[in-house]
This record gives sequence, C-alpha cells and structure tokens, in this order.
Amino acid sequence: MSEVQMKELVALCKHRGFIFQSSEIYGGINGFWDYGPYGVELKNAIKQFWWQEMVQRRSDVVGQDASIIMHPKVWQASGHVENFTDPMVDCKECKSRFRSDQLETLNVCPNCGAKESFTEARLFNLMLKTNIGANTDSSSEAFLRPETAQAIFTNYKVIQRCSRKKLPFGIAQIGKAFRNEITPRNFTFRSREFEQMEMQYFVDPDDSTNYFEYWLSERYSFFRRVGLPDSKLRFHEHGEGELAHYANAAKDIEVEFPFGWQEVEGIHDRSNFDLSQHELFSGEEMKYFDEASGRKFIPHVIETSIGADRLSLAVLCNSFEREQIKNDKGKEEFRNVMRFKPHIAPVQIAVLPLMKKLSEPSLKLEQSLRDEGFRTEYDQAGQIGKRYRRQDEIGTPFCVTFDFDSLEDSCVTVRFRDSMKQQRIPISDLNDFFQTRIKNSMRNYEISE
Ligand code: GAP
Repeated sequence: MSEVQMKELVALCKHRGFIFQSSEIYGGINGFWDYGPYGVELKNAIKQFWWQEMVQRRSDVVGQDASIIMHPKVWQASGHVENFTDPMVDCKECKSRFRSDQLETLNVCPNCGAKESFTEARLFNLMLKTNIGANTDSSSEAFLRPETAQAIFTNYKVIQRCSRKKLPFGIAQIGKAFRNEITPRNFTFRSREFEQMEMQYFVDPDDSTNYFEYWLSERYSFFRRVGLPDSKLRFHEHGEGELAHYANAAKDIEVEFPFGWQEVEGIHDRSNFDLSQHELFSGEEMKYFDEASGRKFIPHVIETSIGADRLSLAVLCNSFEREQIKNDKGKEEFRNVMRFKPHIAPVQIAVLPLMKKLSEPSLKLEQSLRDEGFRTEYDQAGQIGKRYRRQDEIGTPFCVTFDFDSLEDSCVTVRFRDSMKQQRIPISDLNDFFQTRIKNSMRNYEISE
C-alpha cells in the first residue's frame, strides 16, 4: 500500500464513517479521534475477539475493569512519575515542538526549515494531569492512566484470592489510556487518547523465560487470525538501550504500515518489578505461597500489551485494496474493497432485494439474521451493482440477494466479496452456512469461501 493509498484510506474512513477527527466542527483536536458506525463495529469486533481469545476461551486468565484515575502514589511506585518521559526540543523560530529521537536531523527544523534553531532537549513527562475535587493545587493532582497495567498489579492480590487461581494465571483488561504525546501522527497510530488490551500473566520466577516464549507464539497466532499476513508481520527485539524502565526483556510484534514497520504489540518480561514496587510503596505484601514447593516469592509477570486503535488501523491498512475488475457488461472498472475477515467485518451480511417490491420478505430475512447474532445491513437503494460496490468498500464479506424466484423456491443468491462469485442457497440453510464461515474465520489464518 502506497502513501497515496493511505490518503485514500483516510478519506474513505471519513466518507464511510469509520474514523474521523474529534470535535471536527471546531477544526478538530490533535491526537483525538472518533469512530463512526462502521468504525465502532470494527473496533468492537476486534476487542471482542481479543477478549474471547485471551479470557473466555482460557481457564487460566480472568478479566477486570478498573477505574481510569488511580491513587497518585501508584505512578510513583510504578516509576512513571520519574521515567515516563520523551526527549523534547522546540524550534526557536516557528515554536514547533518535536520529539528529538524522532527527528532525522537536529540541524534543520522540518516545519520551517530554520537551521540550528533547536533548544536543548528536555525530558517531558507524558502523563496527562487532572485535579480531583474542588481544589486545584498540587494536593488534588491526579493522572489519567498512561497504561491499564498498573490497575492489574494493584488488584493482583484481591483477584488471586477471589478467583482462587494458582500460578500461572493471568488478569486481562481492555480500557482507555492517555498519553500527552509530543507529536501525535500517522492518523490514529499515535494518539493522545487510545484503548489498550493488556494481559498480565503471573508466573513462578523460574518459569518466566518459558512463558515469555509461549506468549510470543500465542500472540503471533492472534495477529494471523485477525487477518494480517505473515509478510506484513515481524518481531523486533528490544536492545539494552531500548528497554522500558520496567522490562527485563521485550519483543514487539511489528506490522508493516504504509509509513513503515511499526510496533502494534509489546510482549514484556516485567520480572517482579511492579509487584515489588507496590509492596514497597503500599506496605501490602505481594508474595505468593506456592503450596507444592513450600516456597514464598513475588511472582514474575509476562505482559502482553496491544493498542485496540493501532490494531484496528493495521487491519484497515492491510484490508484496503483498489482493484481493477470487469463489471457485468465486461467493462474495466475500479472497485475499493476492504478484505476484512468475516468475524471482524463491521457488517457481515448485507441483504439486498433485487427490486424495491421485494422489500417486505427481504426485511424479514434481514431481521431473522440479525436475531441470530449476525451484524447485518439492509439496502434497497439504487442498482444492484452499485449496492455491491458500496458493501465491498465497507468490507461486507457476504451479500444476500432476494429476487422474484426466492418467492417461489425459498432460495437466495449469496455473493462473495473477494471472488465476486455467487451461489444459490436455501434460506433455511443460511444460518448454518454463515455460522460455519464465521467460526472458520476466527480459528484459521486463511479463509476459503
Ligand atoms: N503496559 C505496557 C505498555 O503500555 P507500550 O509499549 O507503551 O507498553 C503498548 O504500549 C501498546 O499500546 C503499544 O504497542 C500500542 O499498540 C499502544 N499504544 C501506546 N501508545 C499509543 C499511542 N500514543 N497511540 C495509540 N496506541 C498506543
């Protein structure tokens, strides 16, 4: 996908209501984005798939949903007050602000071209501040969480007790995180408000290397099943200088975007850093008694941390294609197509009556598919070919056309988005037909029609 196509994708996302700027009628606000009807369905489907895979299909991981604002001491204990910083420089000429580690050169300002105009690099803390209660002095200061992970560490003891889990076990959460990024950029890729899907897996220190490897492979498989091909995925191991302040070892899963290879998920061996710090700062014991060996220790943590917005963007970039095809009359034309896998497509089945006259039975059919739990849409406006194109562009894998024969033979035509092939199917078989395909889409890397 080229940069031109990236521009087309951003335009399509706005036009079709996937993603657009927050507060657009006021000119937008940098680093904040809104999801429209199709965008929210896509992101919800991705989050739901993650939750199913990481929590519901496993007996060793449980979920939680914690508050965004936590006790300010949490961020002292975690090291974020001291270490969660980026180096920042200002251009003295145009006053633009940049992350110095992201600039190709510190000699020329990329905004105004001024030479040797940068200030000395200063460390800038990325946590967003707020005040709680009526006072606005430092005693009421609190932070919007920059990661969901800390609420899992602070709740580790209570959840271990109430869920009666023994090591190894994990706690997972999906929730908003906030970072006052110096230079938000590349559409939603680096935002100031975003959602994380994180899981902390608590293990015996002796087992941490094995579980680190185990989660690398589990998470890679998830990326493949969400629909990203091998050729667009790679691991990146963090060297000494790159490791976050809490990490012993870290590997990212990177995706190739039109703007280069970029991190979408971090898998970290956080050792016992966080639990030890919380034990120290809160005075609450975080040790675990292992009945089998009679040992008492602070568990180590393997973390898997992925951004729901960043993964949605990766899926959008990799699904989008502008394809040359022959239309019904044999003429060459272009179509935009989003090749979402059926289990994450915002609309899974579109029901299209061949003529408006057939609206009543078609609407009935659409409602029955909706009742079965499919995400559906009904469209009767315009020529059938145009309606197919519209569904291709929003990534609907199956269109069901109800025609006059359907009234006689109780069959409909299913049209497949990718091959554009068509198949006649009895209405009574539709539920099984689609359920099977959606299940296959969740379990397998490749999908066949
Ligand atoms: N708890 C560990 C942690 O937060 P991270 O590498 O800083 O690690 C994890 O963040 C993931 O969160 C990233 O891989 C990315 O998908 C997402 N993320 C981080 N900052 C982001 C931002 N500014 N905008 C969108 N997503 C972001």
